[in-house]
Amino acid sequence: MPFKAIAFDAYGTLFDVYSIGILAEELFPGKGTQLATIWRDKQIDYTRLRTLCDEYANFWQVTRDALGHSCELLGLNLTEAARDRLMGQYAELSAFPENKEQLRRLREADITLSILSNGTPWMLEQAVKASALEGYFEHILSVDSVRRYKTAAEAYQIGPAALKCDASDILFVSSNCWDICGATWFGYHTIWLNRHRLPLEHLGVKPHCIGASLKDVADYALELEI
Ligand code: LAC
Repeated sequence: MPFKAIAFDAYGTLFDVYSIGILAEELFPGKGTQLATIWRDKQIDYTRLRTLCDEYANFWQVTRDALGHSCELLGLNLTEAARDRLMGQYAELSAFPENKEQLRRLREADITLSILSNGTPWMLEQAVKASALEGYFEHILSVDSVRRYKTAAEAYQIGPAALKCDASDILFVSSNCWDICGATWFGYHTIWLNRHRLPLEHLGVKPHCIGASLKDVADYALELEI
């Protein structure tokens, strides 16, 4: 039986965050790539720290704070205009080119599609709109409702609660290996969308499958060879 439901991570999995690096490079020539990398790492770092210490602030705030710190670290002068433009990119992300066709295949197979993300409901809505993926997802689930970020169990529990099935019956898809490790530990059936051919985290846990594109994810969900 193919899976009844799929839960997708958002950033880097469905939505291409590449444009953020391009804009960062335009604003800070020679430092953009480094800024984008440090910013992303710091953003995730803050979600973990805030969850560990029970000091929730939403993903928009965390992302803004992480940008401020990253610029300070690199000695970059972040004007308000530059900050607004960089943050604004989060509302203008594109989907990876293969997404639509693959999401359509999954919908045609009657598989319930959902997003389970650290992003706020507003950020996710904007990203879905900007990438023209409206209508593909039955549930757009944000950890904002439990005020704890992935990899907290409360965050992963949003999926089974909304989809009304066990985590093991849901295929969880993420391009972030740490997210895949957390979801596998939680009990989801997982596929790591390893777009950048990175090594697995050394955490003693493995995804059920590894793919390189959304086509692999769709083939796996539909029980085809990948
Ligand atoms: C998300 C981040 C982790 O969408 O990519 O939750």
